[in-house]
Amino acid sequence: MIKLTNVTKTYVGKNDVHALKGVSLTVEPGEIYGIIGLSGAGKSTLIRCINMLEKPTEGSVIVDGQELTSLSTDKLREARKKIGMIFQHFNLLSSRTVYDNIAFPLELEGRSKQEIEQTITPLLELVGLTDKKYHYPSQLSGGQKQRVGIARALANNPEVLLCDEATSALDPQTTKSILELLQDVNRKLKLTIVLITHEMHVIKEICHHVAVIENGLIIEQGKVIDVFTNPQSATAKEFVGSVISTNLPEEIIRSFSLSPVPIPNSNIIARLTFLGESANDPVIASLIRCFDVDVSILFGNIDYIQGNPFGILIISISGNEDSLKNTMDYLNNKNLKVEVIGYVSTND
Ligand SMILES: Nc1ncnc2c1ncn2[C@@H]1O[C@H](COP(=O)(O)OP(=O)(O)OP(=O)(O)O)[C@@H](O)[C@H]1O
Ligand SMILES: [Mg+2]
Repeated sequence: MIKLTNVTKTYVGKNDVHALKGVSLTVEPGEIYGIIGLSGAGKSTLIRCINMLEKPTEGSVIVDGQELTSLSTDKLREARKKIGMIFQHFNLLSSRTVYDNIAFPLELEGRSKQEIEQTITPLLELVGLTDKKYHYPSQLSGGQKQRVGIARALANNPEVLLCDEATSALDPQTTKSILELLQDVNRKLKLTIVLITHEMHVIKEICHHVAVIENGLIIEQGKVIDVFTNPQSATAKEFVGSVISTNLPEEIIRSFSLSPVPIPNSNIIARLTFLGESANDPVIASLIRCFDVDVSILFGNIDYIQGNPFGILIISISGNEDSLKNTMDYLNNKNLKVEVIGYVSTND
């Protein structure tokens, strides 16, 4: 649905800013694609290049089979109707009612009053604002304002919805309801959604794929479940760590000295990551039953990523050299990820 190839964007000025340094990504039809990065990473620039609010310096932007970078103004106006957008600060017209804000893009199109009403009535229903139709933005909460923003973005029946930090100005409860609404429109209208955020929980809640952007480059991308369970870059690890605990609490780390390499008479400290079905396997019971080892659990956490159970267990395994080796061989052959965090002397 969307294909960006080697997109660069340089803001020319006294000091040129290379906001995008060659970004390529593909968004499949009907998916929710999240782009996460720290402030200044280039997220807004990137999303604005998808609808040509910013013209890329180089590279290609294809939306629904059409190359946008070379279109004339008229053709681009036409192509943009397929691309709705919502913003962090809603960008509503304060002198217009909810109804008239949503009607605005349709009025620009020269649609009749009757046509406009036929479009808006179900949209108000969809976003849950039927009873607020004659209210002004100043009479609405942040969440309600964003609902108006969403309805307005959907008025032209677009194929793609771009969301620039759509929930960043909202409290956690309202964020949740707006994310649910986005998920709802994604499913009901088969709408492709690209959203940018600096909050990993937004990605975890509703995205199918995620790209991590840093200094104008995509440093990691993949399925949300893969990036959460196996982040590669330091930045992705940090983002994942912000919503899912995968590390030993500081208190435990401080209480013993962890060696990165095996030392004589040591316990192995290992992190086990369970995904899907394997989250229900009685692995620890098997270890104790089949091998001559003791296992103590130092840390455990279970989370759900789009309904998939995802568990982390950090354990300390003690036993003689042979039993430890057999245990590790057994774990490495199971359908789970095993990482040795370190070794602790049994005298500790
Ligand atoms: N119109 C502009 N003119 C010059 N520089 C700009 C312009 N817009 C953005 N930049 C610069 O480009 C870089 C990327 O900015 P961008 O707004 O895309 O980042 P962002 O990831 O959206 O950040 P934030 O999370 O703070 O919104 C920054 O260094 C920014 O200062
Ligand atoms: Mg931004």
